[in-house]
This record gives sequence, C-alpha cells and structure tokens, in this order.
Amino acid sequence: MGCDLAKTAVVVVAPEEPEESGAEFSETQIDTIRSTWPLLARDIARVGVEVFTRIFRETPSVRSLFDSFGINDIDNLQHHELFREHAQKFMHVLETLVDNLEHPEMIQPSLVALGARHAAVEGYHPEYFRFYTKCMLEVWEMELGEEFIAEVRDCWTRVINYIVRCMGHGYHISVTDQLDAFVHKEGNMDKLIIEKT
Ligand code: HEM
Repeated sequence: MGCDLAKTAVVVVAPEEPEESGAEFSETQIDTIRSTWPLLARDIARVGVEVFTRIFRETPSVRSLFDSFGINDIDNLQHHELFREHAQKFMHVLETLVDNLEHPEMIQPSLVALGARHAAVEGYHPEYFRFYTKCMLEVWEMELGEEFIAEVRDCWTRVINYIVRCMGHGYHISVTDQLDAFVHKEGNMDKLIIEKT
C-alpha cells in the first residue's frame, strides 16, 4: 500500500534561506557524487521514468497533480511523451547541480524560482518532497547496486536536500508574496537564466 499525503498531518514550516557562503559539498562528497552520476545518467531517460513511475505508483495524490498525463494508466505512462519529458526535466535539474557542486550558489536562484513556480500548481505542497526523495534514493539503490553504500546514499541525500531547501524557499517566498523582492535582489536576475535545455 502506498503512503499518501492525504493521510498525513501537514505542518508548514518556513524553510531557511539557502546558505550563500561556505562549501556546501566537500571535495570527497563531490568525488562520490561525480563518480556515481555517470552510472545514472548513461540512461537518463529510463532512470527518470523509473523515479516517476515509482512516485506515481506510491503516491496517487501526486499523480493527480499532473493534469496533462496523470490520468493515464500507470502501466502505459512510460510511453507517454509528456510524462517522459517531465521525468527528463527532473533529471536535468539534478544534472545541473551535479555540474555545479563546487558553486551551487550559481544555480540557487534558478532552483528557488523553480520552487516558486511549483507554488502555482494546484494541490501542490512541499511536503510531497519526501516522496520524491524516497523514490529517487530507492531507484538509485536499484541502479547502483553494490556501489550504493552508506556514504553514497549520504552524498545523494545532500544533493536532493539542497534542491529541496532551495525549492522550499522558493515556494515559501511565493506564497508569502516575496517573490518580486527575490527576483530583483542584486545578482539573482543574472543567475536565473542558467537552465539546462
Ligand atoms: C526535487 C524536487 C523537484 C524537482 C527537481 C522538480 C522539477 C520540476 C521541473 C523542472 C518542472 C517543469 C517546470 C517548468 O517547465 O516550468 C516541474 C513541474 C512540475 N512539478 Fe516538479 N519538481 C520537484 C518536485 C515536485 C514535487 C514534490 C511535486 C508535487 C507533487 C511536483 C509537481 C510538479 C508539477 C505538477 C509540475 C507541472 C507539470 C506539468 O503538468 O507540466 N514537483 N517540476
């Protein structure tokens, strides 16, 4: 039986503004992430589809948020173009962070903006992040097999937590009407254009 937000008590906590100074990822962590990413990225479309099939199977309330394809039969979703496209967009967000681990602050405004865009999705709540995190790590374990040791898990948890923190902040400033101030803050405007196509 899948876990579902509808059965869970939800507490809204304002996420902290992401750190702008200090190394977010150590050299060792960066090495670990960069040595495992190619194993996941070599078949990026399939792995993305695995993550989302798992999320949708376990969390029907997440699936129902996706107007354009959520209604489709779960066993056929992997062939649905928009579903595949979405899964790839998700994987590319991860890839952008993997590429910028030395200076994640460079992509932070884009992640904050992405979180803010999610605030416009009807029925969305940042609490759903934990389902994404759980399913992503489960798929990583399946894909990496014996290489998915505790240290690897910890490093990837840091990666997803960084994204969740930035997106959570974006959601928060969006629902509290602080988005304009963020976008016009010095420096953020330039960084907002960094996005993988
Ligand atoms: C690690 C966290 C997440 C990442 C990296 C991510 C990434 C993305 C990206 C890149 C888009 C496309 C945005 C655009 O084209 O403007 C998107 C859209 C969307 N995301 Fe997320 N997302 C995350 C978490 C979530 C969560 C937790 C939910 C909620 C259940 C969610 C639901 C949606 C929905 C409903 C859309 C719109 C899809 C559509 O119909 O086009 N996302 N997300």
